[in-house]
Amino acid sequence: MILNVSNLYKTYTRRGNEFNAVEDVEFFAWSGDFSVVIGESGSGKSTLLSLLAGINHPTKGTVIFNGFDFANLSDAEISAIRNDKIGYVPQESVFLPHFTVLENILLPRAIRDGKKIEAYGLADTTDIDIISKLETLGIAHLVNEMPAELSGGELKRASIVRALVNKPDIIIADEPTSNLDEANGKIVFDLLADLARSGTSVLVATHDPHGFKYGDRVYTMHKGRLLPSGESDYGGL
Ligand SMILES: Nc1ncnc2c1ncn2[C@@H]1O[C@H](COP(=O)(O)OP(=O)(O)OP(=O)(O)O)[C@@H](O)[C@H]1O
Ligand SMILES: [Mg+2]
Repeated sequence: MILNVSNLYKTYTRRGNEFNAVEDVEFFAWSGDFSVVIGESGSGKSTLLSLLAGINHPTKGTVIFNGFDFANLSDAEISAIRNDKIGYVPQESVFLPHFTVLENILLPRAIRDGKKIEAYGLADTTDIDIISKLETLGIAHLVNEMPAELSGGELKRASIVRALVNKPDIIIADEPTSNLDEANGKIVFDLLADLARSGTSVLVATHDPHGFKYGDRVYTMHKGRLLPSGESDYGGL
């Protein structure tokens, strides 16, 4: 099992009132799973995904990734695991502004290898796997631009490639098709489905109705609670 999550809570305080953005969540993910989380805005999807990616700390409960309980690890240890094994695509794309798109994409690999990003660069555009993902997503021609020169949808696709450079065990993608037109959204979901078929665990939060049918399991988030929606009506792909 890749992720084993139980009794998970994240409590925030707003105007002196506590509320649970995530409440009593159980979640399991195995290799090759495609899990989709839907739910209204503000229901807690991003908070949940950030807890599972180890970016945010739970108020209560356990997140066990590949047998490692995050509660027993330092922030540095969790960061290293996330960099190497968890591909996280945040809802809002985050790029280092003074590095090219390609350098940003290769950053997790540089961190893993303990190298400076300057040691990579154009030479790595010969990496067949990265090139093919960039081409599939239609952004290969943009990799030497600076992030500020790309559109939101282009950055989102670059963010997906960056999440995959270290061949993670799981990809956790928050609204991976926001800012994308229908055709490009389908390309993204098809790529994620290919990854799941080759054994990567995939977890996606989405508002995209086209995304629901890709899930082996579809969950609905409602006021912090994760409710199973049963099998997808479409029976997967
Ligand atoms: N750092 C924070 N401090 C206080 N409240 C927060 C914080 N982050 C999120 N919230 C609140 O927690 C709730 C869940 O937010 P979250 O971003 O997880 O929702 P979401 O389901 O991802 O929404 P969307 O579909 O709009 O992306 C919201 O009410 C939000 O206002
Ligand atoms: Mg969100």
